[in-house]
Amino acid sequence: MKIAITGATGQLGRLVVADLKAANTGNDIIALVRSADKAADLGVNVRIANYDEPDTLLTALAGVDIVLLISGSEIGKRVPQHRAVIEAAQQNDVKHIVYTSLLNADSSTLSLAAEHKQTEALIKESGLTYTLLRNGWYTENYTASLPAALQAGALVGSAGEGRISSASRADYAAAAVTVLKEIAAQSSHENRTYELAGDTAYTLADLAAEAGKQVGQSLPFQNLPANEFARILASAGLPEAFATLLADVDLEVEKGALFHEGRALSQLIGRPTTTLSDSVAAALAK
Ligand SMILES: NC(=O)c1ccc[n+]([C@@H]2O[C@H](COP(=O)([O-])OP(=O)(O)OC[C@H]3O[C@@H](n4cnc5c(N)ncnc54)[C@H](OP(=O)(O)O)[C@@H]3O)[C@@H](O)[C@H]2O)c1
Repeated sequence: MKIAITGATGQLGRLVVADLKAANTGNDIIALVRSADKAADLGVNVRIANYDEPDTLLTALAGVDIVLLISGSEIGKRVPQHRAVIEAAQQNDVKHIVYTSLLNADSSTLSLAAEHKQTEALIKESGLTYTLLRNGWYTENYTASLPAALQAGALVGSAGEGRISSASRADYAAAAVTVLKEIAAQSSHENRTYELAGDTAYTLADLAAEAGKQVGQSLPFQNLPANEFARILASAGLPEAFATLLADVDLEVEKGALFHEGRALSQLIGRPTTTLSDSVAAALAK
């Protein structure tokens, strides 16, 4: 079987390619990328596939049996971009499309959910056989700010006591690889939707306490109004719109938007999801 992965030079895509390669399943792995230079070290076949250039997608999906569509990173442009991939898959008679969506995409209060919900609808309307991997938050989204928090003496955010069932990128990549392998081997996971999240939820105060414990210093969590948090993120160099988006995510997190107890992720990957302690250690080792 020919398995193609979009966004293969991204952080999640690289993990998927590496895991699938390591699994030695005998399937052909095709990395779909917009920059061949960035893909030189992937060690698999590479084809150019730019979401903004439908012709490249048509060519890139020729002969492909299964495509993993890793959602694009350009917020606001993703519906037409994903539509172009879905249409190219239809025109190439791709047998199965797997899409990395968002936890509870159809009911989520996160503003990010809208594009995922629309993409899911396009996939269902396309008639393609599909699997929806509704990924929760990456733990790395939060642990990335720990070094700066330790320097500042406090972790700041706006998620209050909200519980976060995040998992590592490696966990979500492992789930994608499991699904791709099983689809290739026995056409499974047909038209299934999985809500994927970490096994053990934590609050931002738990995260701060764990980081403090690991470095032997007290690290309090300070909850801030969203506009103040956004201002701090922007002053740290994030584009203003993205800073506001992240602060708004925190407000929804406080209400439970990233909490999930389903454990479908650990069931799919056959092991517990990465612990908070391991994720914190990985972030602090960087
Ligand atoms: N669950 C979460 O917490 C979370 C957080 C952030 C994002 N996400 C979503 O999950 C996706 C994967 O996460 P990630 O960490 O791997 O993100 P990432 O490192 O930013 O990777 C995004 C990938 O999309 C590719 N891409 C962007 N625009 C493209 C275009 N026009 N044509 C073709 N490829 C394009 C990028 O290509 P280049 O390598 O050439 O840049 C990159 O490979 C993100 O794109 C986003 O949709 C999820």
